[in-house]
Amino acid sequence: MPKPSLLAPPELERSAVVANNAMNRERGLTGVNSYARELGVDLLAQLAHRPAPSWLDLCSGEGRALREAASALPAGAVLTGVDLVGPLVPRPAPPALEETVASVSSWTPSRTYDLITCVHGLHYVGDQLGLLSRAASWLTGDGLLAAHFDPESVRHADGSSAARPALAALRAAGWEYSTRRHRLTLRGGRAVRLPFRYLGADPAAGPNYTGQPAVASYYAAA
Ligand SMILES: C[S@@+](CC[C@H](N)C(=O)[O-])C[C@H]1O[C@@H](n2cnc3c(N)ncnc32)[C@H](O)[C@@H]1O
Repeated sequence: MPKPSLLAPPELERSAVVANNAMNRERGLTGVNSYARELGVDLLAQLAHRPAPSWLDLCSGEGRALREAASALPAGAVLTGVDLVGPLVPRPAPPALEETVASVSSWTPSRTYDLITCVHGLHYVGDQLGLLSRAASWLTGDGLLAAHFDPESVRHADGSSAARPALAALRAAGWEYSTRRHRLTLRGGRAVRLPFRYLGADPAAGPNYTGQPAVASYYAAA
């Protein structure tokens, strides 16, 4: 197998696969094109009964799901969206919503969250396992993290699949994986250290299970 040239974050984020504004960035909270449908989770129910619920959406696209949640949540709710390019259609944000334009590969929050989502965002992130580990520590004690994940996008240095060891390590750290939904979930914040050292990413890996071109993430054993 020819060795791909592995890219670091700045080059990866400029690649055509990641900087592709034709991807679906418009998912709402519920309905046909929605977070609820893609994740199979009632997100507002996760936030119910909390006096000041907080939700962090990584790779938030246009931020539609967060905006729709803002009108349904009590005053004091905190909603944070982080996206490499942010909303392409600028609209005034509701007071509860903070939209941050940044790469999730380097961004770090200054607080913890009751809910963290990443809906079809990890497919474009280089160090996916590193982001999952960091995000686990951003959850509140009983918070929920839900993210789409393609184990086949995790590779050993020689290009072979590292799906099995990656999933085994994630499960050992407390994650659950739904093969049918390609969805990882974690309940409760924690410190996670996965036994992988990030080498770089290949944006020419081709389409993943969604049918869209995605990034492959390369790791050595740590
Ligand atoms: C398929 S879209 C999904 C957007 C949104 N979650 C939704 O479902 O509507 C993927 C998003 O990931 C963002 N993205 C890709 N790489 C990123 C990175 N390193 N940091 C932050 N956002 C990133 C893109 O800008 C894009 O908005």
